[in-house]
Amino acid sequence: MAFPPAFLDELAARNPIEEVVGQYVNLKRSGSNLFGLCPFHGEKTASFSVAPDKGIYYCFGCHKGGSVINFEMEIEGLSYPDAVRALAQRAGMEVPEDEQYQSRYRQQERLWALSKEAARFFVSQLYAPAGAEGLAYAQKRGLTKGTLTRFGIGFAPNSWNSLCDAMLAKGYTEEELKDAGLVSVSQKNGRIYDRFRNRLMFPIIDVRGNVIGFGGRVMDDSTPKYLNSPETIIFNKRKNLFALNISKKSKLGYLILVEGYMDAIALHQYGFDCAVASLGTSLTEEHAVLLSRYTEQVVLIYDGDDAGQNATKRAIPMLEKAGLQVKVLQMRDAKDPDEYLRKFGADKFRLLLEESSNRMEYQLRAIQKKYDLTVDEERIRFVSEAADFISSLPGAVQREIYGTRAAEAAGISGDAMKLEVSKAFKRRMAREKRKQEHIDLAPAAARQPKSRTIHYENVKSAMAEENVIALCLRDPGLMEQTRDLKPESFSSPLLGRVYGQLQRQYESGKDPSLAGLTDFTGEEMAHIAGILQRSTEPVSEQALKDSIRVIRQASQFKNAGSDEDLLSLQKKLRESKGIKA
Ligand code: UTP
Ligand code: MN
Repeated sequence: MAFPPAFLDELAARNPIEEVVGQYVNLKRSGSNLFGLCPFHGEKTASFSVAPDKGIYYCFGCHKGGSVINFEMEIEGLSYPDAVRALAQRAGMEVPEDEQYQSRYRQQERLWALSKEAARFFVSQLYAPAGAEGLAYAQKRGLTKGTLTRFGIGFAPNSWNSLCDAMLAKGYTEEELKDAGLVSVSQKNGRIYDRFRNRLMFPIIDVRGNVIGFGGRVMDDSTPKYLNSPETIIFNKRKNLFALNISKKSKLGYLILVEGYMDAIALHQYGFDCAVASLGTSLTEEHAVLLSRYTEQVVLIYDGDDAGQNATKRAIPMLEKAGLQVKVLQMRDAKDPDEYLRKFGADKFRLLLEESSNRMEYQLRAIQKKYDLTVDEERIRFVSEAADFISSLPGAVQREIYGTRAAEAAGISGDAMKLEVSKAFKRRMAREKRKQEHIDLAPAAARQPKSRTIHYENVKSAMAEENVIALCLRDPGLMEQTRDLKPESFSSPLLGRVYGQLQRQYESGKDPSLAGLTDFTGEEMAHIAGILQRSTEPVSEQALKDSIRVIRQASQFKNAGSDEDLLSLQKKLRESKGIKA
């Protein structure tokens, strides 16, 4: 989606970044920057910065950053065009609608409408004669009439074409049915047929209330137990959670994260109206961020089996990274929450919930489980591993509390445990120190971008390239001096692309700005914002010239065809530095 640069320019000008960010973050001025607590990761000291003059935000902690558009995308979970539209609306501007984008949005709207119609169809079938078996199954699973209604649960009849026919009759096309993932295509004759057949149907609804997909459960032991909608232009499993549309309104003050549709639904039915489920995929960072938009505390309840425990271990750091407080509830005497509630009821479950432990307890217990504490050998190893873990806790009180607990578990004195923890602490510090020294010794490596997808081939040149970009953004007038510097001379393709776009902005009579950049990923934009935000030395033509020289030299070396070229370059270089060959 390409918006005209002039429009983007005005959009950025009319949406001052400090105002937009200020709606979400409490900002305090410090010099030319504003600082606040990062909304994208949990922190206690403000490392999130906004530079009104540069039109950017950047977090020194989690390295998120970009223009006002990126901020809108990130904080509201919007796509690029949607973020642009939201900002345009905020500033009362007309959006020059690109034909291609308009048609994509129209297509999405059609698919949302189609999916809603399909959900209505499934509901109607549940109460029709064709759905008798489905209704009986729902009742057997203990779902009340109210629950069926609240979740829009329906039934896909045992037929190859009943949904197709109903939707075609409503004016939807075969193409749209395919795009919505509601039908499959026959290999034999290319005809479409209903994807969901003879299944109890759970509509998946996003936080804005759009039906985006379905999960359908068989009523016997056949497989797959649950059939889900495929990924479509309206359904992204990584970014949506089942029942969040309802749970986000909960007054309970926390969200419960479970594995299964039925677990979430049962929890709601028993009064825990804050349960959501990931959709047959493991938890993603996007899920974590999504959750953090609606709550500060998540209770994780995964199945008690090994898979569930591993999933828990993976999920904890991800949720914490999104700034969430995590508690873990260990399932006991039942396979999952649904089974537990039906066996023991809501009150018993509430007790479980109350004793659900925080992350530290959970981890300590997980370590404890690995060892047989009746065997001396194993107790020693337990103490050592526990000490290592406890020494990593940031607070002295925490170390005290969990140290005592570990000591009790191991049957040793609190003092002995303290000694172990302090030894582990020293070992850890020594490790950290070595790591730090290693970094200091290798400055080039340390300057490599933190991102996994951005890598500098020639760090020295890339530093100069970063500098040129930062200087030009800070003082657009400097672009007059860089006319002869070509993007192709940049060693980093990414920085070359940025520079090329800045040049084009400048040539079209605009001051180059970050908000005018297009076609960069969020990660790339964050990286660019980081470059700009770290650039603090005084702007000068000399600094620019120095950087340009470094870039030129590197690119000449790279493009030198023969050994002779290289030799003569080397000679020239030495001469320019006053060294005799
Ligand atoms: P489980 O196998 O634990 O089932 O799958 P469950 O939730 O207890 O379901 P019931 O109680 O037997 O009805 C957990 C979740 O994994 C996904 C679904 O989201 C399910 O709720 N899953 C499971 C699938 O997507 N496909 C499958 O075939 C199985
Ligand atoms: Mn179950």
